[in-house]
Amino acid sequence: MNQPFSGFSKLSKEEKINWIAATYFTTPEEAVALLKKYWNSDAKIQKLHDEFIENTITNFYIPLGVAPNFLINGKYSTIPMAIEESSVVAAASKAAKFWSTRGGFKATVIDTEKIGQVHFTYKGDVSKLELFFAQIKSTFFTDTENITTNMQKRGGGILDIELRDKTNLMENYFQLHATFDTKDSMGANFINSCLEQFANTLKREAQQFDLFSETEKNIQVVMSILSNYVPNCIVRAEVSCPIEDLEEKHIPNPISFAERFVQAVKIAEIEPYRAVTHNKGIMNGVDAVVIATGNDFRAVEAGVHAYASKSGQYSSLSHAKIENGFFTFWLEIPLALGTVGGLTSLHPLVKLSLEMLENPSAEELMQFVAVAGLAQNFAALRSLTTSGIQEGHMKMHLNNILNQFDATEEERHQVKNHFKHHVVSHSGVVNFIESLRQ
Ligand code: MEV
Repeated sequence: MNQPFSGFSKLSKEEKINWIAATYFTTPEEAVALLKKYWNSDAKIQKLHDEFIENTITNFYIPLGVAPNFLINGKYSTIPMAIEESSVVAAASKAAKFWSTRGGFKATVIDTEKIGQVHFTYKGDVSKLELFFAQIKSTFFTDTENITTNMQKRGGGILDIELRDKTNLMENYFQLHATFDTKDSMGANFINSCLEQFANTLKREAQQFDLFSETEKNIQVVMSILSNYVPNCIVRAEVSCPIEDLEEKHIPNPISFAERFVQAVKIAEIEPYRAVTHNKGIMNGVDAVVIATGNDFRAVEAGVHAYASKSGQYSSLSHAKIENGFFTFWLEIPLALGTVGGLTSLHPLVKLSLEMLENPSAEELMQFVAVAGLAQNFAALRSLTTSGIQEGHMKMHLNNILNQFDATEEERHQVKNHFKHHVVSHSGVVNFIESLRQ
């Protein structure tokens, strides 16, 4: 197949699958059978999933797990996590249990401001543009009333609009930089609709502004779009306890553990290579809850990593200290999340996940997500600074290897028994299975 297929999206699902199978697979019947095996037997649910995107051919499973025993601000919760990486839910659950007997997690929403921008070019006298903006600023609000009325009823809306001169970065480049409160919705559609109206208002009003020359009237809007960088939509999650309380089976010497832990965080603060992996561990927890609750993990990822670079150097999102005999570990991350709109009322498992979290507000969801990120980071650093990460990872990975080899129940039993007392490695497990089979 080395030519474009025009009209592919107009084919029926069955036709799409048949074409793909015939074009790319040596055994088309097997490919078709596999794709269909993953269809939902409930036609209504399947139709829902088919319509989420274009050209759906089947469903792609990711496990939905739960991490119980999360004590957050004095209340226990079970956190749903959608993720394929074997050790993540186990690590979150362990960290939750650990902190549940040490005061639990504290989570606070610091701010919830969202941002959108109209990027435009203007050639002319900047002071005239500033005067023009000051005169028409209220029109941006009145022109968007039909969009903002409902949001205002819920207590949100447009917070402010600023004119920003960016000509030091690009010739003739200016912005309308607007801030929003979108309450329990992530707000992407609301913000983008407001911005597109701002752009129309800007162009219309410029034509009517008497002080502008003909060139100045010719404002060109390049684009209008929300920003996924939300440095003022921040949540903080924290754990803290007297150092001696850190003691447990795997932490016989809590003082040296706490010191090493703080050093590990410090390394992530000063060393970008480590910071990226450190933050990846945080995002293991963050993304899993963001996906389970139907939020946009790409938006969250982009915004979080931009935030991690806000000093000009990519750095750790979490921090740790030892002060007056107390160990404190915390993170602050930007999270633009919604618990209404988008997938939240459409995807049955998203609805279920939100119900499991007792139908949180967007602010409460920000807290759950940040706590899951901190728990994950704690679990990773605890392993890294004590036994090393591979012990736990490989134990969890054992199942994947057994599945890869289609191991029988008896083989699984023998392998698990053997590796209770031996270091798990991929080749070690493979050799052991092969020896069983000889
Ligand atoms: C693996 O998914 C995540 C870790 O690499 C995180 C870390 O190194 O802190 C274990």
